Amino acid sequence: MTASKIASIETSEPENRSSISAADPCTIVIFGASGDLSRRKLVPALYGLAARNCLARRFAIIGFSRTPMTDEAFRKTAIDSVKKFADASTVREEECTEFANALAYVAGEYHHADAFEKLKSRLEELDREHKLNGNRLFYLATPPDVYPGIIEQLNRAGLAKNPNGKSWTRIIIEKPYGRDLASARKLNQTVLQAFDESQIYRIDHYLGKDTVQNLMVLRFGNGIFEPLWNRNYVDHVQITAGETLGVEQRAAFYETAGATRDMIQSHVLQLTSLVAMEPPAAFDATAVRNEKIKVLQSIRPFTPESIKTNIVRGQYGPGSASEDESLLAGYQGEPGVAKNSTTETFVAACLLIDNWRWAGVPFYLRTGKRLPSRVTEIAIQFRRAPHLVFSGQDLSSNELVLNVQPDEGISISFHAKLPGQEMKLKRVTMDFSYQAEFGGGERSAYATLINDCMRGDATLFDRADGVEAAWALVDPILNYFQAHKPKFPNYAAGTWGPREADELLERDGRHWRNS
Ligand SMILES: NC(=O)c1ccc[n+]([C@@H]2O[C@H](COP(=O)([O-])OP(=O)(O)OC[C@H]3O[C@@H](n4cnc5c(N)ncnc54)[C@H](OP(=O)(O)O)[C@@H]3O)[C@@H](O)[C@H]2O)c1
Repeated sequence: MTASKIASIETSEPENRSSISAADPCTIVIFGASGDLSRRKLVPALYGLAARNCLARRFAIIGFSRTPMTDEAFRKTAIDSVKKFADASTVREEECTEFANALAYVAGEYHHADAFEKLKSRLEELDREHKLNGNRLFYLATPPDVYPGIIEQLNRAGLAKNPNGKSWTRIIIEKPYGRDLASARKLNQTVLQAFDESQIYRIDHYLGKDTVQNLMVLRFGNGIFEPLWNRNYVDHVQITAGETLGVEQRAAFYETAGATRDMIQSHVLQLTSLVAMEPPAAFDATAVRNEKIKVLQSIRPFTPESIKTNIVRGQYGPGSASEDESLLAGYQGEPGVAKNSTTETFVAACLLIDNWRWAGVPFYLRTGKRLPSRVTEIAIQFRRAPHLVFSGQDLSSNELVLNVQPDEGISISFHAKLPGQEMKLKRVTMDFSYQAEFGGGERSAYATLINDCMRGDATLFDRADGVEAAWALVDPILNYFQAHKPKFPNYAAGTWGPREADELLERDGRHWRNS
């Protein structure tokens, strides 16, 4: 693709995410390019960046996987994905053609030196042709057990190090990053033998969502919330990441993972650290990640005794979807799932953060499949008014809710006087909606994060010590689950998990806010 051809992409309408800026010219190599993530998320995200002027003037994308494919076939698949999955407001025929021209494909085995020599030649050729300054971004989007082989081959082929003082080489590594502390450490060692930490971008796409980043803006960009953000005013915090879907096509992966590995170790602990962290000295990768890791290190470690009382696991049985009462299979009846599977599809946990800000404030976390609604939210429940002057009125506590998905926004609840003679109070909410305020199509979290990586900003990516701190917390839970087999299923599809999850809060005089 020539510079002049690509320049036409850049003249398209500017978009409203003004903070995204164009990156350096570079080649992006997607390993696992024939797969689901590449098709549904990565290629559409890269197209979106190009269409919104956020890729450099000059770029190239190489798909790498085992499936034999010509450049043409890969381009066609990519454009089909763009048309199906990219933000429709950006999809235009001419730009699709321009984008397709920047794509190439290399077929090969992930552990074969020959395949990486072929990749190297193709990289050098595209680099020369499009003047990409030797900048390279490798994206690992294969199943995780393939990662070490790819990393070793990149290193052996001399592709891991920055080719010269002026160029950069970076690598994005998809989650799951390990399956326990030992394997995460091993992966860290493998990747750090080939790349420097500053080149490594461990991705959790939740962190690319506007609402998740907005949590930091809400806390540290406003003067009114931070003074209340502590044990003196907050009664407890609830974090829910619920899905209505079951295991779908992911049984092979999910059977070996479960909700604790899939959701708690990554997304849910990421959200917890953003809620609980101290204000960073600056909004940069070192300061933000230092503060997040301190939170993980302050969470009281789980012991077999505390797991018994503070963690509830569940697995869905048959049930019905709340919207249309249609019958849903139980987890053990899903294709690819063992008939006597003990994999948890639901986890609720109460954790305590032992530091000055949060001592004594429970954080209740909950995630599950086949729940009544698809919702990811963080609810800060404030303490009740210390003295009730309105007799006869049962005042609930104030609540600040951050909706991460699907309706991105923030709401705050408080009490208001009902109109009329009597002093009657009603709980009301003030809502801020991203869609209503800013409009626009859906912003892709992957686009945000890929653009950040191209610009060398690792603030929203995990560091080696961060992933290890999260696994160190989760490991005892996984070991306990392994040693104590549960009686599953224990909740019906379409409900909010097992009864014990409600009891986890009821014993403390609290309850889940079920959306
Ligand atoms: N899909 C998502 O929405 C999503 C979300 C978050 C994270 N992730 C993570 O992203 C990575 C890729 O996900 P995905 O859903 O795209 O996976 P996928 O479709 O199962 O795999 C991607 C590609 O990797 C190659 N591959 C598959 N199994 C392999 C094996 N056993 N050995 C060697 N290569 C194999 C295949 O290409 P070839 O056979 O052509 O080589 C496949 O097309 C995974 O680590 C996943 O956990 C995915």
